[in-house]
Amino acid sequence: MPTTPVENLTETQAAEELARLAAELLAHDRRYHAEDAPTISDADYDALKRRNAEIEARFPELVRADSPSLKVGAAPSGAFGQVVHAKPMLSLDNVFSDEDVVDFVASVRRFLSLGETAELVFTAEPKIDGLSMSLRYEKGALVTAATRGDGTTGENVTANIRTISEIPQQLPKGVPDVLEVRGEVYMRRDDFLDLQKRMAESGQTFANPRNSAAGSLRQKNPEVTRSRPLKFFAYAWGETSAPLGATQFDAVQQLGRWGFVVNERMKRCATLDEMLAQYRAIEAERAALPYDIDGVVYKVDRLDLQERLGFRSRSPRWATAHKFPAEKATTTLLAIDIQVGRTGALTPVARLEPVTVGGVVVVNATLHNEDYIKGIGNDGNRIRPDDHDIRVGDTVTIQRAGDVIPQILDIVPDKRPKDATPYQFPDRCPACGSHAVREEGEVVRRCTGGLICPAQAVERLRHFVSRNAFDIEGLGEKQIEFFFGAEDEALRVRSPADIFTLRERQKSSLTKLENIDGFGAVSVKKLFDAIDARRSVETSRFLYGLGIRHIGETNARRLARHFVSFGALRAVAEAARIPDGKGDKGNEAWQELNAVNGIGDVVAEALVEFFAEDHNREVVDALLKEVTPRDEEQVGGVETQFTGKTIVFTGGLERMSRDEAKAMAERLGAKTAGSVSKKTDLVVAGPGAGSKLKQAEALGIEVIDEEEWFRRVEG
Ligand code: IVH
Repeated sequence: MPTTPVENLTETQAAEELARLAAELLAHDRRYHAEDAPTISDADYDALKRRNAEIEARFPELVRADSPSLKVGAAPSGAFGQVVHAKPMLSLDNVFSDEDVVDFVASVRRFLSLGETAELVFTAEPKIDGLSMSLRYEKGALVTAATRGDGTTGENVTANIRTISEIPQQLPKGVPDVLEVRGEVYMRRDDFLDLQKRMAESGQTFANPRNSAAGSLRQKNPEVTRSRPLKFFAYAWGETSAPLGATQFDAVQQLGRWGFVVNERMKRCATLDEMLAQYRAIEAERAALPYDIDGVVYKVDRLDLQERLGFRSRSPRWATAHKFPAEKATTTLLAIDIQVGRTGALTPVARLEPVTVGGVVVVNATLHNEDYIKGIGNDGNRIRPDDHDIRVGDTVTIQRAGDVIPQILDIVPDKRPKDATPYQFPDRCPACGSHAVREEGEVVRRCTGGLICPAQAVERLRHFVSRNAFDIEGLGEKQIEFFFGAEDEALRVRSPADIFTLRERQKSSLTKLENIDGFGAVSVKKLFDAIDARRSVETSRFLYGLGIRHIGETNARRLARHFVSFGALRAVAEAARIPDGKGDKGNEAWQELNAVNGIGDVVAEALVEFFAEDHNREVVDALLKEVTPRDEEQVGGVETQFTGKTIVFTGGLERMSRDEAKAMAERLGAKTAGSVSKKTDLVVAGPGAGSKLKQAEALGIEVIDEEEWFRRVEG
């Protein structure tokens, strides 16, 4: 145990000790939670935590981003089994202003081809700030409870959920045989404050009710969860063997009659004005409510319309969250650090004097880019007055909205220290020293080091293992940095394929991972097993993991669904010729890429350029020796007469909008394209169809009208 009394520590000593304590406590946490093999007593552990808290109390400016006091005593991911959701758990789109709500309603009307005056009812209810949960009941009995996870697969927390008294374990007679009830687990504010008091002695506290609910649920021991005051609101459902009602409102009331707590503030709104009035009413009540909310959720009331509207990649078209304005605070800017991203972008990050915003301690904030620091927006116009450039030492106002990274809004000019100097953005990469250049018309300055820049390489690897890419359990930021920097060949990871050869290389090596501090035999085995479990991944994940510019999750999925196999996608990308910009239309492969729904020139170009680089092809080839991309599952799952067919809609449609038509075709397993080519299987033409119809006729492609389309879909 360190012996220097806290009041005698110098700032440097304190910083060093906090760093050491963070590492030490992390290692103990891992041994305790992941390996069930603690090496110190609970009392000694608590003493370390207390020491950490005492030093932080005397030097608040030294609180580290990875401080153990900001962590919760929850089990690490991987401690629970996994549950594949019968229906994906989606998230919600966010809007922030009244105009956005007007646009949302208009988009729903447009999609459904409803005129401005046709009846369209929405429900409006508080958006609860907790964590979403799916409860599966079979023949009335609770069988599994799962967290949202990545939306497809969540964690099995059934044992812990059974300790929550508001969640029924048995439902009354007459409920559907299969019933998945979805809603929010949360903690009331007063219960949270009581719990804080109870826990203060152990030095283990939570930042806010939401973290507290999450931490309480992710306990290995259900008895700990039982001692935490968790509650549940039901507001949605997943798989059900019988419909719950004809409208959102009725279905939720039905859940209420079956014994779930439903929110009494849910209201039906027949007009836009009523929706906005309900938003204002809930906002006005916000502070007085016993639980945290962060907005209002609007949902189309009629379930048949919800069905027609369907989903985008991550969220339903029939609902949106109208968020409350972000919370603000002022603090001091201590330093500006530069981070290097996987594409070499240099991003300035503000290090702040710790400040609480909306119940969370904020120590970092984004500064976006060089111009933002000067007060210039992306369009080149000023976003702050001339003398409001951001300088180290400034008092700044910051804002934090929901889960978004906090940002600096402005400075307080009167409080600027006399000696503060304008910030000089570096023209060299802080990681590799290469020139950092800003191309004409770009806001971002990029490191030109490419392959030699360690920061870019580490970021690429971090992206590769991240949740929506390869999602390798136990391989987080810290581990990637460790493996990247490893001196020993048998431990070194420089490119994705190296991750998969690690186990084999370890076998013939004397440097054993399990002997390195922070690992241990159990976690090493788990890590290797987690890596092996990813030797086969869906094509979309594989593609997304490569970290190609502009290929985020949605575009990766679009491409994967279209080409089905990675091989087919790559073949087209390698064969494609980018048009020269002088009227040339590129070759056939280019046009095929371009015809993929939602894929435009910028994305197609990024893909073609990626595969044109020798180095990238080598990285992919090496990876393909270790990993097999699985053919992409087609949406809908069930085979229909349209599965795999490419359909083009053209001309006017009467019963539905063009967007609805496309969504409908995609639900049936078809691909839709914007132009007619040899690859088109079917053209649905309405009145006024022009060149596309002619082209189809010239190519001998089957053409049908809207009525025939519906006959085939319904038939
Ligand atoms: S509906 C398919 N209703 O917000 C849409 N979500 O930001 C299902 N949430 O993951 C969600 N209160 O955890 C819905 N009244 C409410 C909600 C709510 C909170 C959460 C939910 C969801 C997240 C999306």
